[in-house]
Amino acid sequence: MPLCNNFSGSLAVAVALLFFGVLYIFNLQNHADNTLRSTEYPVDELEAALVRAAAGNNKTVIITMVNKAYVEDVGRGRSMLDLFLDSFWEGEGTLPLLDNLMVVAADQTAYDRYRFRRLHCYKIETDGVDLEEEKLFMSKEFIEMMWRRTRLLLDVLRRGYHVIFTDTDIMWLRSPLSRLNESLDMQISVDRNGVGGHLINTGFYHVRSKNKTISLFEKWYDMRLNSTGMKEQDVLQNLLDSGYFDQLGLTVEFLNTNEFSGFCQESSDMSAVTTVHANCCRHIPAKVFDLTRVLRDWKLYKTSHVNNKWSPHVKCWRSWND
Ligand SMILES: *[C@@H]1O[C@H](CO)[C@@H](O)[C@H](O)[C@H]1NC(C)=O
Ligand SMILES: *[C@@H]1O[C@H](CO)[C@@H](O)[C@H](O)[C@H]1NC(C)=O
Ligand SMILES: *[C@@H]1O[C@H](CO)[C@@H](O)[C@H](O)[C@H]1NC(C)=O
Ligand SMILES: *[C@@H]1O[C@H](CO)[C@@H](O)[C@H](O)[C@H]1NC(C)=O
Repeated sequence: MPLCNNFSGSLAVAVALLFFGVLYIFNLQNHADNTLRSTEYPVDELEAALVRAAAGNNKTVIITMVNKAYVEDVGRGRSMLDLFLDSFWEGEGTLPLLDNLMVVAADQTAYDRYRFRRLHCYKIETDGVDLEEEKLFMSKEFIEMMWRRTRLLLDVLRRGYHVIFTDTDIMWLRSPLSRLNESLDMQISVDRNGVGGHLINTGFYHVRSKNKTISLFEKWYDMRLNSTGMKEQDVLQNLLDSGYFDQLGLTVEFLNTNEFSGFCQESSDMSAVTTVHANCCRHIPAKVFDLTRVLRDWKLYKTSHVNNKWSPHVKCWRSWND
């Protein structure tokens, strides 16, 4: 029951609080038996949101993170988050997944704007950093927001939840669940297939909660202190290239762009495409414009089943000159 803030929502929270209160006390008594390196958490808002979003889904939550720029209209009364949610309505088998989606708000505006929708929401603490404006790619604030997200995901993994992380500028056209493999530690999207090595994209990944993955996220998050001016994705890329994943014994799959596609490299097969990411694009208005066309192309495909070419991503190509 995806609800942010109404009577049944409060009831759900109350029940969850009661349940986890009991569980918490129980856990304290059984401290010695713990096998996963997770900390016991007192009941808090994050735990309550996770409980609701993971219900009926084997402790797996879908997480996306938004700030004010993602909830503001960018024309025709639409925001990036609206379009993201539309894709779950238009996608095949994606609508039920909204029950497992947790929208993390990086600022008050984003939280206020969406907490009345039928969504699970959680607002992260901001330590006085302004996360409200659109963060242009690679600005200092953009990097700050990305690290905030890594810290949150580390926290979620430590609490024993598996994560499907998705950027909000990704259209979910099919359910990815059948492609996600619970025996792997991590599955991560890439910008392009068939280049030397793997150019990972942290806009979409699936990660299981395990000691090994928690260690990876701890290391990744610690590296921010050593990586001034680098974005978190490049830091993870360095950890991968330097063999740190192998050192931890992580089993990783790189998702191919035929299914997990984007504007850097389109899927050529509409009968297989699962997600479309507005990567290789600089700002939100261009993303919304070009992703709206993706949804239009997809609706045509659904009625015709003809594997057409995607509309060109003109606004995104031009966004680098804006
Ligand atoms: C996870 O790590 C904790 C603490 O380091 C350890 O006690 C536990 O045995 C580990 N669990 C597994 C499954 O490796
Ligand atoms: C949960 O896991 C069990 C065992 O792996 C599986 O049979 C079941 O289909 C899963 N449920 C969901 C909702 O994924
Ligand atoms: C999932 O991953 C395991 C381990 O690599 C592999 O043996 C198995 O075939 C995979 N399952 C699917 C459905 O791809
Ligand atoms: C940061 O760099 C220092 C010096 O190179 C190194 O000792 C330290 O281990 C690094 N920190 C992390 C988290 O890798």
